[in-house]
Amino acid sequence: MLKSVIAILAVFAGAAGAQEKSFDLHAPDALTQTGILKHLLPRFSLKTGIRITVTEGATQARFGADGVPVFSRGDEVWHFSKTDGPHTDAFLDWLLSDVGKGTIEQFRPAEGAVFSADVTAQVQATVASLSGDAKLGEKLSLAQCGRCHVINETNRMNAIGSSPSFALMRSFPDWQERFETFFLLRPHPAFTQVAEVTDPFPDHLPSPIAPIEVTLEEIEAITAYVGSIAPADLGAPIQVQ
Ligand code: HEC
Repeated sequence: MLKSVIAILAVFAGAAGAQEKSFDLHAPDALTQTGILKHLLPRFSLKTGIRITVTEGATQARFGADGVPVFSRGDEVWHFSKTDGPHTDAFLDWLLSDVGKGTIEQFRPAEGAVFSADVTAQVQATVASLSGDAKLGEKLSLAQCGRCHVINETNRMNAIGSSPSFALMRSFPDWQERFETFFLLRPHPAFTQVAEVTDPFPDHLPSPIAPIEVTLEEIEAITAYVGSIAPADLGAPIQVQ
């Protein structure tokens, strides 16, 4: 699924038109092969709309032995160096932020040890940090998602049985990624608009129902709220929703 997310993000970035926000990045093969860039870059692009193209010998930014230490794996410390500019600056700030560090530490390589974002001080909790406003997220979830999903006790009777409850989805190991990208996952694209991210519905395919309209900040708030709810206990008998 990640592949398709990357492809779709590339399309968004392309659609952004003339003032495309992007830069190129060089990364050593040893780092690329771990898969961490495929994990980090789409998440950064989703938050900021800045696209990063990984190319051999790129000059605007590079991971390597020089620059600011950003993450480590075992004894190896990776550094990031860059030319000045708002987009490369934004990426470095993100790598050093709580959200960026959480995203680095959330990555599970196919082989080998996990990465640590804690290159200077104490090891941080590996739980992804959720920067959204969970209270706001609860309101938004009930208003925007509650017609179909059971969000919590308050809308248990009004949701549609065929949609999984938020508590059930919270129990998936990749719940955070699914919520951050829900607008790319069926059935939502047909009726969801994310401000400054999605294209308008095509004329011949208007939304079949009252559309969901959200911003990236609102998706962050919803994700923070979902992070705060207890996962459904999958060991318990299945409840009729
Ligand atoms: C019109 C009904 C409807 C609305 C409104 C809706 N959803 Fe869904 N959603 C569904 C259905 C149906 C599924 C199950 C899809 C499946 O099983 O393939 C689903 C699945 C999901 C999934 C899991 C997707 C996956 O493939 O892993 C997430 C995450 C999700 N919804 C989040 C949201 C959020 C967040 C909102 C509100 C902003 C929302 N949904 C609003 C119907 C809806």
